Amino acid sequence: MISAMSDAVEPFARAEASAANLRELTGVPGFDAAVVLGSGWQAAAEAIGAHEQEIPLADLGGFPRPTTGGHTGAVRYLAKGGLRVLLFLGRVHLYEGNSPAAVVHGVRTAVAAGCRAIVLTNAAGGIRPDYRVGQPVLVSDHLNLTGRSPLTGPPPPDGYPSRFTDLTQAYSARLRALAREEDPTLAEGVYAALPGPHYETPAEIRMLRGLGADLVGMSTALEAIAARHLGAEVLAISLVTNPAAGLATQPLDHGEVLAAARSSAARIGALLSAILPRL
Ligand code: HPA
Repeated sequence: MISAMSDAVEPFARAEASAANLRELTGVPGFDAAVVLGSGWQAAAEAIGAHEQEIPLADLGGFPRPTTGGHTGAVRYLAKGGLRVLLFLGRVHLYEGNSPAAVVHGVRTAVAAGCRAIVLTNAAGGIRPDYRVGQPVLVSDHLNLTGRSPLTGPPPPDGYPSRFTDLTQAYSARLRALAREEDPTLAEGVYAALPGPHYETPAEIRMLRGLGADLVGMSTALEAIAARHLGAEVLAISLVTNPAAGLATQPLDHGEVLAAARSSAARIGALLSAILPRL
């Protein structure tokens, strides 16, 4: 087992080391697809299917400890229709004080372990007035308003793609079409990623709507950039957990966001379960 490596080790080597640990601990030589479960989506984990193994992220090295309540910090391995799928429970965010490299470590580890498709899930505020709480929405594009990139820093080592990553197809049209074949009622929207952890002001939401955003959240964009840099296809699904600030009368509450997500667990679990074997 390769020991946990310090932050001084460059992030791609750290991901390779975590991937090697993952292969060794699971005894599985490679994986095909990975799902990162966001706030509330973890309640859907059981509905996605029975897992064969669960490894604490702490055993892989390179993963910071999550500080948010809804996250447990483990990766599950399950077989889905002939695909070897990794399920990451325990995303970390910029707002926990993590570097962009730490935020994308799971995605880089998954790609280093062989995954060619990355499914990113999140909880989001709905900016479009026709979105309903509990509704899953396919992310068609993003506005990265975090001011950060996982590709900042020294250039990637030899053998890795250039850091000047093309993002014109950040979210795979092929995978979105496939998801809509499973559920033709799925809406699409543009996700605005903000650093948080505070929610937005109503003025910020009006601004975001003017900029073309349909959804707002605090994750996903950096992970999508890291996955695209490494050539993996990305499918991202937001669960609308609340109307964005100023669009409803009641104030935003993190507990209610998590509760809204949990009450949709069966639907979103079934959705992922149907999509995964087809990735
Ligand atoms: N804003 C930002 N992030 C969120 C929201 C929101 O309204 N809901 C869930 N995550």
